[in-house]
Amino acid sequence: MMNRTLLVTGGAGYIGSHTLLALIAAGYRPVVLDNYSNSVPEVLRRVQQLSGVPIEFVEGDIRDGKLLDGLFQRKAQDGSPVECVVHFAALKAVGESVANPLAYYDNNVGGTTTLLSAMDRAQVRHLVFSSSATVYGEPIELPYSEQHRIAPTNPYGWTKAMVEQVLKDWAATGEARRAVALRYFNPIGAHASGVLGEAPQGTPNNLFPFITQVAVGKREKLMVFGDDYDTVDGTGVRDYLHVEDLADGHVRAVQYAGQAAEPFSAINLGTGRGTSVLQLVRAFEQASGKTIACTMQPRRPGDIASAWADPALAYRLLGWKAERSIEQMCADGWRWQSQNPDGYGG
Ligand code: NAD
Ligand code: WQD
Repeated sequence: MMNRTLLVTGGAGYIGSHTLLALIAAGYRPVVLDNYSNSVPEVLRRVQQLSGVPIEFVEGDIRDGKLLDGLFQRKAQDGSPVECVVHFAALKAVGESVANPLAYYDNNVGGTTTLLSAMDRAQVRHLVFSSSATVYGEPIELPYSEQHRIAPTNPYGWTKAMVEQVLKDWAATGEARRAVALRYFNPIGAHASGVLGEAPQGTPNNLFPFITQVAVGKREKLMVFGDDYDTVDGTGVRDYLHVEDLADGHVRAVQYAGQAAEPFSAINLGTGRGTSVLQLVRAFEQASGKTIACTMQPRRPGDIASAWADPALAYRLLGWKAERSIEQMCADGWRWQSQNPDGYGG
């Protein structure tokens, strides 16, 4: 009989919290491990409210091998051994990774090797990993296929590329180990209820939460980083995908890990469509009825002009494709931000 207990590291975060709902809806029983370094307990309270089921939570760090041993042992003794780990826990700010690379290598790479060692001791053999399209670096050709060369341009991106290599080598050691690295493009939006969403601490690093904070009056205007790129309107183009589509991709990946022929797979999760900064701003204005004041700024160092996915492999291996439109991403993101102007603190 299939055992459906999962360990979800970083489950209180933005993508993790949305994925918990999708996993529960699919019949899984997630146990969450999070150190709340970039999240708050209120998130899980809301996931429980939306799902109607209690969520088992352990406050702690993926770099704590003893804690992981205890957790895996306890679940095995309960008769519900962990079948698969869904591994979101990581630091994710590109600029901070340049300023403090060792914190990133320690948390993201060291944390993952500690987790894998504990999985080995507990004989947990499947893992789904949050990788990133950032592993590709400057595009040689678009869309990015999974065969595109790996050439990250900052320490954060290198931690993702290194963990992928670690997973490939770990999975190749036999004994039915399976690792699936999901290379996310740009997840945005929020749960359609408006109850869950993205709540960055301090000034948002990413475009979409910056736009929603301008709309709600927390920031004066959006700085558009570069209007002289070789794109449709000169602003940067990205492949934005709805966080609920991304969450569904994880359910498929957990199922795939249970039956994959290959020990290791790296799979793009994106829509295959590019949207410019100004196109996203216009779509958001339509969805929210708000005007977003913009000011043109020089390019942000390290940015590329355009990025979008070839999502064919995700469809072939996982049977997944993104379903939700840019309009829906904006409407759901606005519902979340307008109902929670101060995020989970409000
Ligand atoms: P997030 O910061 O909201 O979530 C990460 C969670 O992990 C947080 O709740 C944090 O408290 C927890 N965490 C961090 N280090 C930990 C540790 N050592 N032990 C235990 N918990 C720890 O980020 P997110 O946007 O939900 O991203 C989730 C994953 O997806 C990350 O691995 C990130 O690198 C990756 N990713 C994110 C994006 C994006 O645009 N948001 C894109 C590509 C990949
Ligand atoms: C999107 C576009 C900016 C902010 C980053 C990480 C990547 C991944 C996702 C985790 C670009 C422009 C942005 C602003 C702007 N994270 N922009 N004004 O850079 O594609 O990816 O987040 O893996 O690793 O690098 O996303 O949202 O920061 O930027 O004009 O205030 O918006 O120049 O063209 P990016 P982003």
